Amino acid sequence: MEYKPHTIGVLTSGGDAPGMNAALRAVTRAAISNDIKVKAIYRGYKGLIDGEVKPFTTQDVSGIISRGGTIIKSARCAEFPTKEGRQLAYETIKREGIDALIVIGGDGTFTGARVFAQEFNIPVIGIPGTIDNDLWGTDATIGYDTALNTIMNCVDILRDTATSHERVFLVEVMGRDAGFLTLNAAIAAGAEAAIIPERATIIEQIEQAIGQGKRKSKNSSIVLVQEHAVEGGAQAVAKMIEEVHPEFSSRVTILGHLQRGGSPTANDRILASRMGIAAVQALLEDQRNIMVGIKNGEIDYVPLSKAIKEKKDINDDKWNALQVLSI
Ligand code: F6P
Repeated sequence: MEYKPHTIGVLTSGGDAPGMNAALRAVTRAAISNDIKVKAIYRGYKGLIDGEVKPFTTQDVSGIISRGGTIIKSARCAEFPTKEGRQLAYETIKREGIDALIVIGGDGTFTGARVFAQEFNIPVIGIPGTIDNDLWGTDATIGYDTALNTIMNCVDILRDTATSHERVFLVEVMGRDAGFLTLNAAIAAGAEAAIIPERATIIEQIEQAIGQGKRKSKNSSIVLVQEHAVEGGAQAVAKMIEEVHPEFSSRVTILGHLQRGGSPTANDRILASRMGIAAVQALLEDQRNIMVGIKNGEIDYVPLSKAIKEKKDINDDKWNALQVLSI
């Protein structure tokens, strides 16, 4: 007989990402069409601890597919990593009659989910929602494509002033420990260089890229700096360049939380919709403690433990492409 949860709890946690709403909509509608009730938990694990729960109907998720952020809010919660915090969260689960949990978020969200699932024997399904794209077991995370396009558009705009003033622009990009956003935005925007944590970049390489290279006619340059690739970020890189080359006039732009907002791209909306449906499907198949991923265009399921622990690598071809194209 097919296993069927009676009530699914759904939450968004950690840094918000465009497309989280589309995933919430898909989870809600897929569950309801399978006669499963949905309860939305507000403010991630904080709301689970505080009992901020609301039954959701299909109408509650109307008109949200195009909206960035998350209508059920997100939070970073210091209590959930503690045993006492998780115990309170479990009491909410029992009181609300929730018998399975779908969590939309990143690395930190899944780490908490995994411990909780094991401690209280609750089936948990993870949907990867983070602009960082740093989860193993999925080619893309929800929000990554939108953030990438936002960064590319910002760099395109900066290019106008960089060329007009013949300056070097150092643009700081988010990503936590991962360089996917930085490297891919650098390729897409035609940047001269990318500094990412996965590849050591020495000052000589940057010099090559910003004017001492093969094409000496370049009068301006854009270097994308991943926020944690260098201590001190883009500001520190600007200082290094100025010390070695006082003749370069440089400026720093920190894109910051601009990168997290905005209406999701079509790719993110479609990805989120498919993943939301797949998460409900996984519960119907009696799967638990897994993350929904996308591999070569197809939905895939991977254990939460692997999604968290394994490291997703930067693609060498892409790294090489940037070196070739930036001469
Ligand atoms: O994980 C998403 C992310 O935007 C990272 O790229 C960034 O390092 C971090 O969150 C910023 O977190 P906060 O919004 O809590 O400052």
